[in-house]
Amino acid sequence: MKFSIKIDQLEKQVSDVLVLGVYDSLKVVFDKLSLNTTTISHITSILKHGDMSGKAGSSLILYNIPGTKISKILLIGLGKEKELDGKKYQAAVRAMIYELNKMDVKTVTSYLQIASVQGGDIVWNLEHFVNEVMDVSYEFAELKTIEKKAKKTFNFFIASDKKNQKIFEGVLKKSFALAKGIELTKTLGDLPPNICTPTYLGKKAQEIGKEYGMKIEVLDQKQIEKLKMGSFLGVAKGSRQPPKFIVLQHNKGKKMQKPIILIGKGITFDAGGISIKPAGDMDEMKYDMCGAASVLGTFKTIGLLNLPMNIVGIIPTCENLPDGLAVKPGDILTSMSGQTIEVLNTDAEGRLILCDALTYAERFNPEVVIDIATLTGACVIALGHHASGLYSNDDKLAKDLESAGQISMDRVWRMPLWEDYQSQLNSNFADMANIGGRAGGSITAACFLSRFTKKYKWAHLDIAGTAYKSGKAKGATGRPVGLLTQYILDKLH
Ligand code: BES
Ligand code: MN
Ligand code: ZN
Repeated sequence: MKFSIKIDQLEKQVSDVLVLGVYDSLKVVFDKLSLNTTTISHITSILKHGDMSGKAGSSLILYNIPGTKISKILLIGLGKEKELDGKKYQAAVRAMIYELNKMDVKTVTSYLQIASVQGGDIVWNLEHFVNEVMDVSYEFAELKTIEKKAKKTFNFFIASDKKNQKIFEGVLKKSFALAKGIELTKTLGDLPPNICTPTYLGKKAQEIGKEYGMKIEVLDQKQIEKLKMGSFLGVAKGSRQPPKFIVLQHNKGKKMQKPIILIGKGITFDAGGISIKPAGDMDEMKYDMCGAASVLGTFKTIGLLNLPMNIVGIIPTCENLPDGLAVKPGDILTSMSGQTIEVLNTDAEGRLILCDALTYAERFNPEVVIDIATLTGACVIALGHHASGLYSNDDKLAKDLESAGQISMDRVWRMPLWEDYQSQLNSNFADMANIGGRAGGSITAACFLSRFTKKYKWAHLDIAGTAYKSGKAKGATGRPVGLLTQYILDKLH
């Protein structure tokens, strides 16, 4: 996919197709740049025939309309003008791609993004136009040898006047960087767990570090032992794949500026360990490294934008498998913080690898620490697949993330971290247990993490319901790279 800004009047522009939005009142969305009066009156008279309703999902192709050099016009229904919100706008962009895929076109002049979207402006609209186009055109087919669809790519022309040209070019740059980050996150998620191992994630991190001039360390088992990460190592013990502890540092801010830290859960396969999971849909536990993938994706975006900020990415990564040497229910582990943990369920392994990473983060004297994890099935029960669970010990940080989620359409919903829940983690034999019972399972998981984050402002994102889709549309979503990128960019301004 390619996107470029065009400042010519439409009459002079040549492309294979022109895309216009139409409301259900049959009003065509246009401005002085997009259509001349001959064209608009022609389209309006055709619409009177009733072959297109203007409802969301409706569309119509017109040929050889006078007043423009573009021989095909694709009309996309936007529904009720007053009800066009961000979600409906995204759906319209997806509908456009769906129609374009059926047509014989390559270059596309779009005016879909000039519709007035609730809460959006020309910048927001263009950004989400690009995001949505890139999102729907992603496909993970690297490992298919038959029935491969030929991938269609389009060259989008975005019309602009001189005044907005610079702004739009900036938007395209940001959107492209974000799209690349999201694409990486999706690919890492979709890769099979026999390829995407902890070692593989380490290599990918190294590639990103090299490409964008970041500091990169990939610690191996011995170095992790030296750091006394007994909790992380407890999980890693059940697997033949060696664990890695990845530290990526983008140090392009002022020397004294405290870093933003992103920590991603990197379980490349979660069979549950000795507390083994049922067989149904177990393949989806390859997505248990989507937190890690979102950190790497966000670092790709940060690298492409070369942001003048200090940002640290930390990824503890291993597999959670049953084995003769695996951690057992009843085992007690000593975390890097010194706190002891009774493992009552080996399937609650995410918190066990994250707690040591959270302790490690202290050495950077962070501005804020945000961890991202496919942590609990309970979060999926609570929030479904639309919002990621947000927990925080700092109201300002929580508000900033909520607002970034709103702008990026990668939304979060804040959950309680009340003291009341902490006692569910009591253990008779250690400082805490690693599970807190069925009630409030996502909350008690966050409470567990909170015991390791006392020294800084911290937020936890439970992305178990948002990082990937199940069923026929199975695949990684790339969330919450959009949210994290927006949060970081908001900090810059
Ligand atoms: N990786 C899972 C959480 C998960 C479940 C993510 C479903 C995506 C979809 C996590 O490691 C896990 O197994 N959590 C357990 C915790 C329980 C044993 C307290 C869970 O949610 O069942
Ligand atoms: Mn698990
Ligand atoms: Zn897990």
